[in-house]
Amino acid sequence: MAVLSILNEHTRLTNVDEIAASLASHGIDYERWTPSHPVSDDAPPETILNAYSREIEDLKTRGGYVTADVIDVSPATPNLDALLAKFNREHWHDEDEVRFTIAGHGLFHIHTEADTVLGIQVEAGDLIRIPRGTLHWFNLCADRRIRAIRLFQDMAGWTPHYTESRIDENFLLACFSAAHL
Ligand SMILES: [Fe+2]
Repeated sequence: MAVLSILNEHTRLTNVDEIAASLASHGIDYERWTPSHPVSDDAPPETILNAYSREIEDLKTRGGYVTADVIDVSPATPNLDALLAKFNREHWHDEDEVRFTIAGHGLFHIHTEADTVLGIQVEAGDLIRIPRGTLHWFNLCADRRIRAIRLFQDMAGWTPHYTESRIDENFLLACFSAAHL
């Protein structure tokens, strides 16, 4: 289950409906997905995509996405720190950022048009859709692992545009373990 922190308000939400409503007010979609049949989180990508094909096809229709893949990042990933450095500074894309987490954890920060900052910690079962143009940045949590389905409208739009605001430096990495909830 995700954790949503509204950092300016020192508010933390863990209820699915409250998280979805709060994110929706900023144009961000949040859903919980369950597979059509049990599937291991280390199953091959095609098996993962098949288990969630109904949700993927529905989202493709709603958002104009044309392709889906599975990304796998772990401490064994070559040049992991260099990879993460591309995404842990405030940026936006010309493309929606759509992620469904299969395993591991991730922490998205969203800099809203209302000039608030949201921290959204995702884990298995969490779908998040960040519209194109939204200012955001991303970090891994302590497990340094995330496996996720990605959907794309056009992979060319995936290049990050950096704001160089350095606002991301004001927010200490704060993933919460289940023991802290
Ligand atoms: Fe991004």
